[in-house]
Amino acid sequence: MYKIAVIGGDGTGPEVVAEGIKVLNAACAKKGIKLDYTEYDLGGKRYLKTGETLPDSVLEELKKFDAIYLGAIGHPDVKPGILEKGILLKARFELDQYINLRPVKLYPNVETPLKDKTCDHIDYVVIRENTGGLYTGIGGISMKGTENEVAVQSMVYNRYQVERCLKYAFEYTKKRNKNKTLGLVGKTNVLTYVFDLWERAFHEIGEKNYKDIKREYYHVDATCMWMVKSPEWFDVLVTCNMFGDIITDLGAITQGGMGVAAGGNLNPEGVSMFEPIGGSAPKYTGKNIINPIAAIAAASMMMEILGENDIAKNIENSMIEVMKTMKSMSAGNMGMSTTEVGDKIAKLCS
Ligand code: IPM
Ligand code: MN
Repeated sequence: MYKIAVIGGDGTGPEVVAEGIKVLNAACAKKGIKLDYTEYDLGGKRYLKTGETLPDSVLEELKKFDAIYLGAIGHPDVKPGILEKGILLKARFELDQYINLRPVKLYPNVETPLKDKTCDHIDYVVIRENTGGLYTGIGGISMKGTENEVAVQSMVYNRYQVERCLKYAFEYTKKRNKNKTLGLVGKTNVLTYVFDLWERAFHEIGEKNYKDIKREYYHVDATCMWMVKSPEWFDVLVTCNMFGDIITDLGAITQGGMGVAAGGNLNPEGVSMFEPIGGSAPKYTGKNIINPIAAIAAASMMMEILGENDIAKNIENSMIEVMKTMKSMSAGNMGMSTTEVGDKIAKLCS
């Protein structure tokens, strides 16, 4: 049995999470495994009612679960930054989920905007450092509103953060069966302090412990170009928090968009949190038309990280079969409803 904390969150979050749970239950029951869910009411609605984002008491409780399954956080009536910082980033930081695992994988029958690219070309993983860099919020603003206003936000990394992320990335590349190539994505030509640190650590760790893994380095701007032109080059990419945020949206659209892309916020030594990487999509809320595939893919990733590889594979394979019968991956154009997608995948899983 696994104890799972469920945060449906805002907008279409609860709808997609419900389908994920349906699928998880079917796939786990087949293996005689039980999931014990505890729901947490967090998000924009709660914030607007109570002023609370992620209370410390809830945070303490979250630490006791085997995993966290998250829908989406974001509300049109809440100023940008409050929920993101107060809930999502707080959870990532406080639970020390220092890895953000974002597979970029094009499944059969899914349309990609990349000309002449197929499932054979788009299959790599981005490992995004998840608790450092520009996201630490170090900086400040002074003389606000005057002509002399100054705003600073610093990209901060220490060797420890960089090393643990790189080590995870090397281990991941070692286990993954592709070209055994790890690409560091940086900007050594401009960010000559931070990426000097990343690059030295990358080669030192690789040289010392991972001689069998091929090391490559790419500037982040060029990476965007190659993600469009030659995604088949990539096996595993590792990068800082900010660059990882940006390039994984580009990656997501090449794999069929936000309806498909899933991510894991991992603390390899603690509690990890799994989510579809799209937002709360308020305009589709309650219409039973949002695509739950990304949430279901996140559920599959959750089982994989929990060590239940058979269950993870079963979910992924069933998902692929149902995707083949869907008209498209975009909300309202799937040729079936949100609940139908979940029902069909759950049936195949069981
Ligand atoms: C993501 C999101 C978040 C991020 C936002 C909502 C804070 O864009 O998970 O990629 O920037 O990390
Ligand atoms: Mn993002």
